[in-house]
Amino acid sequence: MDTPQQQQQDQVSPQAKWWVDGQRIGYKGFWFKPEFITASEAIRAHYKPLPSDIILASFPKTGTTWLKALTSSILRHSSTSSSSSIQDLDHLNPHEVVPFLEIEMFGDNPSKDITEISSPRLFSTHLPLSFLPETVKTSGCRFIYITRHPADTFVSLWHLHNNKFGTEISIRQAFEEFCKGLVPAGPYFEHVLEFWEARDRVMFVTYEDLKANPEETVRKIAEFLGCKTKVEEIVKECSFEKLRSTSKERGEGVHWSGNKYDMFFRKGVVGDWKIHLTQEMMKELEDIADLKWRGSGLDL
Ligand code: A3P
Repeated sequence: MDTPQQQQQDQVSPQAKWWVDGQRIGYKGFWFKPEFITASEAIRAHYKPLPSDIILASFPKTGTTWLKALTSSILRHSSTSSSSSIQDLDHLNPHEVVPFLEIEMFGDNPSKDITEISSPRLFSTHLPLSFLPETVKTSGCRFIYITRHPADTFVSLWHLHNNKFGTEISIRQAFEEFCKGLVPAGPYFEHVLEFWEARDRVMFVTYEDLKANPEETVRKIAEFLGCKTKVEEIVKECSFEKLRSTSKERGEGVHWSGNKYDMFFRKGVVGDWKIHLTQEMMKELEDIADLKWRGSGLDL
């Protein structure tokens, strides 16, 4: 039986408005647009994970697009894994190649039949682990979680929403909201912690490691997936410049889920926060990490 605290957490919190694009609701300790809460219920009811499923999980703006590109490319080029359902990146954006469970899979049609997709099925999600069905823990399906320093994650999110919605609040105010967790899929720290605590079945990848040594990280991902593949080719195929130019070629008018394809490629560097945040703001993030991650083995 659930504890009173759990029962309270399970209730949907009052709606909140925030600096991005309208309404968010709090649910089980996280903040999402209402449609993602509905989609997560559909996922819990209808998604039956297969042992061969691969789920790329992430907090928004941590490198999801890059991880989608790399993983799909590894599977497609592998000499040891059949991947007939995965399309190539020649003319497509990585988000067209790897669908989100909460958008393309169960977003519009809650009881969509996904059994026809050939294995290995490659999905992605921004949902916390606790929003997914319990069977993800027992089915043998594999997770790869990408994470990134919260300062650069916040700066990337700030730019995205400035460009997309012309946000009018200051970066300081937006930062305070981020620290409170009032961002899509927030709070950041709890999102990372949930997957970290399940790392016996989750492979952790950091944006910073990928930038520092992409070949080494790609080799580890391929090993995790049991794939033999040409690492250098994959890194080249998924470079920032290559992916961005393919998306730009798709044209200004082309949109995915309300987003322009090329908006997932901005600067692609580590440490952009130094231009936008003060040392005090960084200290604030370190203090939150210290409080929320203490004893977990995670730190900044
Ligand atoms: P910046 O805004 O800091 O440039 P997500 O895919 O989770 O939305 O994350 C987007 C961030 O990843 C953006 O960061 C984007 O530029 C960066 N990115 C996307 N593709 C990349 C690639 N191939 N190499 C490096 N960074 C990439």
